[in-house]
Amino acid sequence: MINLPPENRTVVVRNLLAWYKKHKRALPWRQTADPYRIWIAEIMLQQTQVDTVIPYYHCFLNTFPTVEALAGAALEDVLKVWENMGYYSRAQNLHRAAGMVVDRFGGKIPDSHENLMRLPGIGVYTAGAVLSIAYGKAVPAVDGNVRRVISRLFAVRNPLNDPQTQKQINHLAAALVPAQNPGAFNQALMDLGATVCKAGKPVCALCPLTGQCRAHSLGLQNTIPPAAKRPALPHRQAAVAVVFDQGGRLLVVQRPSKGLLASLWKLPGGFIQDVGTGKNDLRMQVREELGIRIRVGQPLASVDHAYTHFRLTLHAFEGRILEGSPCPLGCQAWRWIRPEDLKTLTFSKVDRMILEAVLS
Ligand code: ADE
Repeated sequence: MINLPPENRTVVVRNLLAWYKKHKRALPWRQTADPYRIWIAEIMLQQTQVDTVIPYYHCFLNTFPTVEALAGAALEDVLKVWENMGYYSRAQNLHRAAGMVVDRFGGKIPDSHENLMRLPGIGVYTAGAVLSIAYGKAVPAVDGNVRRVISRLFAVRNPLNDPQTQKQINHLAAALVPAQNPGAFNQALMDLGATVCKAGKPVCALCPLTGQCRAHSLGLQNTIPPAAKRPALPHRQAAVAVVFDQGGRLLVVQRPSKGLLASLWKLPGGFIQDVGTGKNDLRMQVREELGIRIRVGQPLASVDHAYTHFRLTLHAFEGRILEGSPCPLGCQAWRWIRPEDLKTLTFSKVDRMILEAVLS
């Protein structure tokens, strides 16, 4: 196992904390010591960029200023505030976790690794971030930026998506975290990764750690970490029906409470085999979802979206009910809704896009 001599470790900590004092980003979750607010920020930052998170963070905390307020809210209202940020299971988990914090931990965000990890949505990274930033515990918080910084500092040459390499980097990071100011130290690593030790080309001239950085001393800062081989994303097709009643209201359904985009609203339909069989597949999907037989008419619009694990093309078709009344067979609920009221429900980004395309 590679390691830094103790005197180098002291220099790394000192230089990085001094750099952070001067150059840290002024982010709203750094203006608070409230563990609840820090937890909310860290959940949002799991899969969303800092700049995108900031307005959501303010809006979320204005709407749910305490863990009790979040625990007592309706899930629909939590999802509404989360709309368009993606990875909606985070919102569902936050809501459940808030209930557990109130019921089991007397409203206090846990300050132990063990109890934090009992909460849905909290893994090793988020537990480390909350413990170090909110509670001053000397544990690491290794996100993608930190992993890259550590891999360069120690010249770890393996791809960072390799689980053994991640384990090695977690150990190296754990050995660096100081007892004093661990939260500042972890956030300094994050900021260094985001602004100096960047994925593309690191700006070593601005780095406080060049004197200790093995990759820099070997001239390998542009080749460590090696680019990870990503498998090509599968391309899936889905189809939805645009069905109006005689009063001009649109038929919408609420997704099941588990699975992709759980509890969000959408137009009726689902995945199809391919574009050629799309109309037939759509008729079947709607029958399974709502127990109605529909006629599928003209194509109206198509939109594309990239999820983490697949690319999606979503096609909308005109639809008309031939037989039956909607029943929630494969969905949580269904409604007729006036187009001007669609904003009161929560839709995923791609479902909003298709609604805009067909209604504009
Ligand atoms: N990414 C995850 N947590 C962060 C934090 N506390 N500050 C900046 N970026 C982050």
